[in-house]
Amino acid sequence: MNELILGTNNQDKLREMKALLRGSKIRVRSLAEFPGCPEAVEDGRTFEANARKKARTYSLFTGKLVLADDSGLMVYALNGKPGVYSARFAGANCSYQDNNRKLLRLLKKRPGLSRRAKFVSCMALYDRGKAVACVKGECHGSIAQMSRGAHGFGYDPVFIPAGLKKTFGEMISSAKNKVSHRWKALKKVKPIIINYLA
Ligand code: IMP
Repeated sequence: MNELILGTNNQDKLREMKALLRGSKIRVRSLAEFPGCPEAVEDGRTFEANARKKARTYSLFTGKLVLADDSGLMVYALNGKPGVYSARFAGANCSYQDNNRKLLRLLKKRPGLSRRAKFVSCMALYDRGKAVACVKGECHGSIAQMSRGAHGFGYDPVFIPAGLKKTFGEMISSAKNKVSHRWKALKKVKPIIINYLA
């Protein structure tokens, strides 16, 4: 069976990854179909370490091929922060809005060039605990002066991809999915998955 488990409990990432894999002959399933699956603790210092940990944990539990994504935003003027702490930048249990507010506050009054940032997605593919591949996708851009748009999730309303005027939050999902870090990582790993399952 051409089956792939997406190793994430984040519904927003799940939605994007499913959309990006649509059209392939892979049967995509989510972790929710495996009750009792332990949550991998994201305590790595890099996206890669966390992505590998998630893929390894979930592939051992499910006994299947798992693709896990660890991703986040890196702002140059903040020495790469929030980085691996993107989800909890404003503290434990904070909302996406709390994170965006904190980021805009830290960058207040900073001019254009010093608002440069990039989204990173690291994807690890593991089969029953064994590494198959690990790839990275990046999307360069800058942080807007204020939050704009209601599409997407996370930092989307404050991130403007390079060469464009709109934030990801102002773009429909199909437009974001043409340039995003997640799309770039998936483009690299998709042929590996297809080849592996063949
Ligand atoms: P993770 O579950 O540790 O990988 O958390 C990733 C966090 O990075 C999310 O909670 C978001 O805050 C942020 N993030 C990752 N990818 C995106 C994206 O495509 N748009 C907006 N925020 C993102």
